[in-house]
Amino acid sequence: MKRIGVFTSGGDSPGMNACIRAVVRAAVHQGVEVYGIMRGYKGMIKGEIVRLESNSVSNTIQKGGTMLRSARSKEFMTKEGRREAYDQLKKFGIEGLVAIGGDGTFTGANIFCEEYGIPTIGAPGTIDNDLYGTDYTIGYDTAVNTALDAIDKIRDTADSHDRVFFIEVMGRDSGYIAIPCAIGGGAEIVMIPEAETSIQTVVDTLRTGWDRSKTSFIVIIAEGDEAGNATDVAAEVQKALPYMDARVTILGHVQRGGSPTAADRLLASRLGIACVEGLLQGRKSVMAGIVNSKLVYTPFIDTITKQKIINPHYIEMVNILSV
Ligand code: F6P
Repeated sequence: MKRIGVFTSGGDSPGMNACIRAVVRAAVHQGVEVYGIMRGYKGMIKGEIVRLESNSVSNTIQKGGTMLRSARSKEFMTKEGRREAYDQLKKFGIEGLVAIGGDGTFTGANIFCEEYGIPTIGAPGTIDNDLYGTDYTIGYDTAVNTALDAIDKIRDTADSHDRVFFIEVMGRDSGYIAIPCAIGGGAEIVMIPEAETSIQTVVDTLRTGWDRSKTSFIVIIAEGDEAGNATDVAAEVQKALPYMDARVTILGHVQRGGSPTAADRLLASRLGIACVEGLLQGRKSVMAGIVNSKLVYTPFIDTITKQKIINPHYIEMVNILSV
């Protein structure tokens, strides 16, 4: 394999640049040419493809976002879109791909590899940490620390005003961001899609705290929780506890930006190198991940279909620690 392409796709995450850098430098180290595909599958279809040299990735390891840009492509979900993407890759002589993204990215890569046989290896780049086949995804640690920093600040004002704050964190289908935010942020309650928490439980917990003279509260809600978003939950609870002063904060995309933490830079660098080495070893349709400190390659199909289970003890911890 003499020429590979690298791209980022789906929601960006801090550390994607560190991963791109590692892919480029590892490829150069092995005498392989690298091309950057702009805006994920969208740019692949349009042929937005640029040569990357070692210098192209200088001064990027510390930067948030992705220098290759990112997008979610509806066109790539169609046969015609994938055909166009293949034609572009052929035109540039690209023989292998490194895809940095989440489950949507790997779903696309898996189909594309089946249809056109271009070997592809994935690096898990998403703040959600919801991918089977790796203990942590690139950007997760940074996102949790960003959210926690915001929660600490909200706690100050919650305390000053004797208020209950309903704070929504990201995680479309998963509570991986919510759990460390709740434990580390000293929250009274955490609500995540993987475990049902009724509005009644929230009301009871807050009332119990209030009755024993607690004056401020933090409730962390993952955006994908089945009870609804933070605004819905706050409205329901406020109805049941009219004497409490409720406020809502949706942290949103602030969690996706910023300079990556040391842990994310290290993970991204390790996995970027592993992607290039994996391609050169003849691997395809797998994601490079770290499980129990060891590098593992997991088939795309498993990363997409298998669920990474949250340890239920973490939810129990929130209950124990909020008494
Ligand atoms: O997948 C990462 C993520 O940040 C999710 O937590 C969130 O639901 C989604 O992306 C938001 O996507 P968008 O930026 O397209 O609105």
